[in-house]
Amino acid sequence: MNTSVKGILLAGGSGTRLHPLTQAVNKHLLAVYDKPMIYYPLTALMLAGVRDITLISTPDALPQFRQVLGDGSRWGLTLTYRPQARPEGIAQAFRIAEEDIAGHRVALMLGDNILYGSGLPKQMRLAAERVEGATIFAYRVANPERFGVVTLDRAGQPLELVEKPQNPVSHWAVPGLYFYDQKVLEIAAALKPSARGELEITDVNRVYLERGQLRVELMGRGCAWLDSGTAESLFEATQFVRVFEERTGLKIASPEEVAYRMGYIALDQLRELARAQSKSSYGAYLAQLAQAEGEFNPAL
Ligand code: TTP
Repeated sequence: MNTSVKGILLAGGSGTRLHPLTQAVNKHLLAVYDKPMIYYPLTALMLAGVRDITLISTPDALPQFRQVLGDGSRWGLTLTYRPQARPEGIAQAFRIAEEDIAGHRVALMLGDNILYGSGLPKQMRLAAERVEGATIFAYRVANPERFGVVTLDRAGQPLELVEKPQNPVSHWAVPGLYFYDQKVLEIAAALKPSARGELEITDVNRVYLERGQLRVELMGRGCAWLDSGTAESLFEATQFVRVFEERTGLKIASPEEVAYRMGYIALDQLRELARAQSKSSYGAYLAQLAQAEGEFNPAL
């Protein structure tokens, strides 16, 4: 566990690509199969060992996030809520969360990204433990022109970061999970808005690249990176989660389960959380998990 890393979960934006679904409901509260979208990036941060997290969203949606996530204590977390008045770029998050992150390393995750795969929690924990520089991830995609991509040399060192390249020379897209040392606040403070008027996360990453302090972790081909920002990708994410969960009998991105497995809550707390949701299949899953864990350890 790494207590000196603060997390930021960015769940603002305008969600225009999901209209009319997002006219009244914030995108990150929509369902991805059996749980709200925000559970997926939240559990990714938890698996990285990050427990102190600032959630940033629009002023309208913040009360709903509070209703869904509370103060985080039932999952062994500390959650702080901060408004983003207008969606002026991902890198604005550091300025909004300044009070929470000053003097700490930071893990920033976008609220509509879903990461899943064996080996990933370990890669994320190592990134969170790295004391200096920044770590981004890279995932091979078929259509790099739709993403921010990173070009790499033969040793896997980053050469260049390019936004939505028209003629991509790299298939390595950069998912929305980034780890930074304490200097990120100062770097974000000096940023100027881009041509589209946003504070760009790629510009932050470029500063680290120019300083020779940007590390890229390649995600293996057994991993999944899904975003859920359009009706099609949201449906695909739902299908992915459903197929996986039905096949294995395991749940992807349950904060209760992750909190228990990471040692953030005890077995009796898990039982209590299961009881509170006993009418849904989600609650039944937690109850089954708690029972199996109790049998596994007869002392409890
Ligand atoms: P985007 O997909 O760039 O934008 P969006 O979510 O507003 O959606 P749309 O393009 O449909 O209008 O955002 C990526 C993620 O970052 C998403 O989870 C929202 C979040 N975000 C913010 O919270 N604040 C911001 O200022 C921006 C640009 C994004």
